[in-house]
Amino acid sequence: MSATTYPDYSPGLQGVIGGLTSVSKITVEESRLEYRGYNVHDLASKGSFEETAYLLIKGKLPTQSELDEFNAALDAERAIPSQVIDALRACAPGTHQMDMLKVGYSVLSGFDPDYNQEDPTDHEANVRKAIRITAKAATIATAAYRIANGKDPIAPKAGLKTAANFLYMLHGEEQDDYTVLVMDAALTLYAEHTYNASTFACRVCVATLSDLYSGIVTGIGTLKGPLHGGANEEAMAMLMEIGSPENAEAWLRDALATKKKIMGFGHREYKVGDGRAIYLTEVAKEIGRRKGNTNWGDIADIMEKIMREEKNIYPNVDFPAAYAFYLLGIPIELYTPIFVIARVTGWSAHAIEQLDDNRLIRPSCIYTGELGLEYSAIETRG
Ligand code: SDX
Repeated sequence: MSATTYPDYSPGLQGVIGGLTSVSKITVEESRLEYRGYNVHDLASKGSFEETAYLLIKGKLPTQSELDEFNAALDAERAIPSQVIDALRACAPGTHQMDMLKVGYSVLSGFDPDYNQEDPTDHEANVRKAIRITAKAATIATAAYRIANGKDPIAPKAGLKTAANFLYMLHGEEQDDYTVLVMDAALTLYAEHTYNASTFACRVCVATLSDLYSGIVTGIGTLKGPLHGGANEEAMAMLMEIGSPENAEAWLRDALATKKKIMGFGHREYKVGDGRAIYLTEVAKEIGRRKGNTNWGDIADIMEKIMREEKNIYPNVDFPAAYAFYLLGIPIELYTPIFVIARVTGWSAHAIEQLDDNRLIRPSCIYTGELGLEYSAIETRG
């Protein structure tokens, strides 16, 4: 990347204010994250992912009757049209799960009852769409994964909430309460994170008065990258390559010496640790203790110590999520789709906020090429 610096320009828009939002706030110096004013750790430990989804999409915590109604609405919308399944089956063998998710939502959009909504800024229509998009995320993700692995998709089970239904549709049977509890908390922690790359991309998309589904597909494509959501899968691959605590230090020092980016570490915003990682690390260690497998947590301890001492870099949410999901028996290629199952709520909240008070997002740029060149006939160009 160019070493030249310019006034009024920051590479990667680091430190640049991209907009206003009331959806969430990061307090960097305290590693604190709040969704519409509520600490995410309270939401993750005392609430449910559905309460968080309601809070993000509707703007307030639900009463019991509002939550019951919301859960009923999600329940009624978890199934996906057979045409979406057909489209997933048409994907080339080896298609990345995130690419299959883009296919799923692209085909699904045409079946949404509000597909032809007159006004892209219609708040209520966008909220209805957000509920359908949220309800169907786990169904599409598990269908894509099962199809890619030569199995038939499993339909959602009435009455199961998002985390429990995801695990049911993945495995074909309900999972134990603790596994469901951990998955529910992980979805809450992954749901929203201010103007991260995929959320910003989603806002840019809908700010052209494109539709919410296009914003979601934009978010999925952006989240796929290993510098963003794809890091949780890469982090587990890294831990498996290391294999045991005895190998951790040598592996890491070699990686740092060769300027490798250590997946699951570092963050554009947090500089003294990602509060979500602190919470999920405790959860991941507890799972390890319950399963009698502390190998991954022991490797993590060594890596975190070295990264802190050598680079003053801390783990982000993706590092503990990686080995927590692994210990829960979740296939690695589903880690980033789990991020999508949660983040469609944050993307929807931001897209609705953008469309409620919209202005096209179109930054300027500084031209660095040549100017005033003479056009020459093609035969003279050599
Ligand atoms: C998510 O933005 C969000 O909110 C995202 C997210 C969300 O909830 O939406 O929190 C989810 O995407 C978390 C991040 C997941 N990505 C990774 O774990 C990939 C590994 N991390 C890095 O690539 C990096 O930390 C980023 C991309 C996350 C942030 O990088 P920045 O802010 O662009 O910083 P940088 O790459 O310019 O690095 C600054 C310095 C460099 O050293 P020097 O070249 O100046 O000597 O820190 C070093 C980097 O080399 N560095 C790392 C590192 N992260 C930064 N070195 C080794 N390993 C790392 N992970």
